[in-house]
Amino acid sequence: MKNGKYQIAIVGAGGIARWAHMPGWQKLPETEILAVADNNLETAQEFAGDFGVPHVFTDYRKIAEMDEVDIVDVCAPNAVHCPATVSALLSGKHVLCEKPLAIKTSEVVEMIEASQKSGKKLMCAQHQRFRRESRVVKNLIDDGVFGEIYFAQAQALRRRSVPARPTFIKKELSGGGPLLDIGVHILDLTYWFMGCPRVQSVKGVTFTKLAQREDVHGLWGEWDREAYDVEDFAAGFIRFTNGAAISLSCSFLANITIIEDFSTILYGTEAGLHWPNGKLATEKSGVLQDIELHLSEMPEVRPHTEEIRAFLEAVKEDKPVPVKPEESLEVIKMLEGIYQSAETGAEVNF
Ligand SMILES: NC(=O)c1ccc[n+]([C@@H]2O[C@H](COP(=O)([O-])OP(=O)(O)OC[C@H]3O[C@@H](n4cnc5c(N)ncnc54)[C@H](O)[C@@H]3O)[C@@H](O)[C@H]2O)c1
Repeated sequence: MKNGKYQIAIVGAGGIARWAHMPGWQKLPETEILAVADNNLETAQEFAGDFGVPHVFTDYRKIAEMDEVDIVDVCAPNAVHCPATVSALLSGKHVLCEKPLAIKTSEVVEMIEASQKSGKKLMCAQHQRFRRESRVVKNLIDDGVFGEIYFAQAQALRRRSVPARPTFIKKELSGGGPLLDIGVHILDLTYWFMGCPRVQSVKGVTFTKLAQREDVHGLWGEWDREAYDVEDFAAGFIRFTNGAAISLSCSFLANITIIEDFSTILYGTEAGLHWPNGKLATEKSGVLQDIELHLSEMPEVRPHTEEIRAFLEAVKEDKPVPVKPEESLEVIKMLEGIYQSAETGAEVNF
């Protein structure tokens, strides 16, 4: 704390830090951005200049040496999440870390252990949980409207949208392709809707069929075909110890007739729902009913800002973070399980 304000340090000054996290922190008057670390000095300096950040580093470990820093916000590529988070936690800082929390289960375990050892908070930035459409649906679920949700079909499918930066297409930085980048979003959301049961087993497949082809073009610009070494399509089937299951599919490049399908369909004993379009199907008084939830007419929120606000509240009031690291651990187990199963052809049991 300095000047009565929480001091924040950003690790990774790229896209998400600029367009989502900074607007969030700027909305919170009890915070100040004290430092930024990016291994690209020019990027870090430009960021510091644009947002008035006094301390600039190319090595995130320098942040660990700054006693005044209260919170580290990790916005670097996936492979950096674990080392940057552990360094921050063990030097006594709370950490908000972008999704996926890490690329391997063993890393998440290390991060949780560091958080427990230091007594500092750790939360994965799963902003989809903070969308208005998500909050409303979660309230309906908690009110029992759906009964028991026993199955969900989750998809994060894009027709031709590859994030062209190395952060997303080079395995050494990303750890994986669309499964880790966008699959993690819809899986985490669906899993949360279903009450976060324990994962029992996972089966999966991955493909790289379109991304290395010169005749396939992206709507978000071109990418380096030779550098692309992750999957472009992944699918998985996940069973939970409570008997429920999720079917997941995700892709950057798939021959589908729409531009994007980012949705989940919940199957409950009392009602079913398509998220985010808000169509609820049920049967009441002996008649089938379709109910339209006017989700888009709810007050608008910026989910990243709400996620940052909720994390800060947990820090200030010393209460559990809303996206629990143990939930993120289960999510990473599922994703890692899909990769493992895709490689061996066998089901992965936990
Ligand atoms: N929640 C969301 O909606 C969302 C959207 C985009 C990205 N993300 C996540 O945010 C993270 C970053 O994505 P992005 O789009 O900002 O990528 P980006 O490529 O635009 O930016 C990443 C930045 O991190 C820097 N960097 C790389 N290695 C570093 C290191 N060792 N230490 C410090 N900085 C380092 C790079 O120089 C770059 O400036 C990823 O984990 C991604 O999954 C989340």
